[in-house]
Amino acid sequence: MSANRQFKLAARPVGMPKESDFSLVEAPMPVPGDGQVLVQTAYLSVDPYMRGRITGVKTYADPVNIGDVMVGGAVGRVVESKSPNFAVGDFASGQWGWREHAAVDARALWKLDPKAAPVSTALGVLGLTGMTAYFGFLEICKPQPGETVVVSGAAGAVGSLVGQIAKIKGCRAIGIAGTDDKVEWLTKELGFDGAFNYKTTSDYPAKLKELCPQGIDCYFDNVGGAITDAVFPLMNVFGRLSICGQISQYNLEKPELGPRLLAFVLVKQLKVEGFIVSRFQSRWAEGIAQMGQWLREGKLKYREDIVEGFENTVKAFIGMLQGDNTGKMLVKARD
Ligand SMILES: NC(=O)c1ccc[n+]([C@@H]2O[C@H](COP(=O)([O-])OP(=O)(O)OC[C@H]3O[C@@H](n4cnc5c(N)ncnc54)[C@H](OP(=O)(O)O)[C@@H]3O)[C@@H](O)[C@H]2O)c1
Repeated sequence: MSANRQFKLAARPVGMPKESDFSLVEAPMPVPGDGQVLVQTAYLSVDPYMRGRITGVKTYADPVNIGDVMVGGAVGRVVESKSPNFAVGDFASGQWGWREHAAVDARALWKLDPKAAPVSTALGVLGLTGMTAYFGFLEICKPQPGETVVVSGAAGAVGSLVGQIAKIKGCRAIGIAGTDDKVEWLTKELGFDGAFNYKTTSDYPAKLKELCPQGIDCYFDNVGGAITDAVFPLMNVFGRLSICGQISQYNLEKPELGPRLLAFVLVKQLKVEGFIVSRFQSRWAEGIAQMGQWLREGKLKYREDIVEGFENTVKAFIGMLQGDNTGKMLVKARD
């Protein structure tokens, strides 16, 4: 155990990131100090927000600089401990980025119980993704039984959970996703009432009208762009729109001009609200407890799309941005 592989940002991507925008380098094995543990990465999360972090623009978080190790959530096994709170063999999740080992302050780690749930779920349904779906949908859309909920990016990590939570709350759930297989998964396995493939549908307004004959009460937006433009006119009076993500815009070299939609916000008296999931951090224990209960009750299903091998992290990241994943995209660094 002498070398520690890690991915650093090598160049700021133009458009869709390329493998050459990152470099795989070896660093010395870190040595944990007092209060720290040495974790060996088991799973890495690749997420759309990482695209924003490598643009070099400060938003709600600092950008990753050229030469920095990529940021990101990970799950790992403790292989050396200088903290009374962790023993060798414990599993933990934290934000140590794209590296195979890290010396991390124990206070920045969340201890996992592998008997309660597979440890990978700490990066998905029982982690940031699940909390984004749970709080971003329930707190902002405040769905009521019988209402129609539309979810874009519906077969992804967040979207697939939002549609199922909508069903648990007694709503009608309609999903929008990028392949026929994803549409089939949503409707046949996850219980969505309808879904369509936006890549093979030319008239989004007509398709949405067909699937939402009573109009749309709640829209959970993961993608933005033309799909979201088509939703606004179909919103019902006092509808709620939770703006979670705008992935259709993340890799554009020039910003896209859109139609002017605020007249719909006015006449339909809509509430449009963006959120960053960290807003709800103080309530994560509540969200994880509820999602865990729904999982145990069989009311909620989740899927992980796992790419094997730490060295394939960049491929997994680019693949996720291009829609390769169904459910949560993860990298398995080792057993
Ligand atoms: N606000 C927050 O705090 C917060 C937290 C987490 C995530 N998010 C946002 O939530 C969204 C979903 O995140 P996730 O982690 O669940 O990712 P994900 O949905 O699992 O993966 C991204 C998906 O986006 C879709 N996509 C890519 N390009 C697209 C385009 N041009 N138009 C429409 N869809 C496109 C792809 O599916 P298709 O095959 O369907 O195209 C791809 O699988 C992202 O926008 C992310 O930024 C926000």
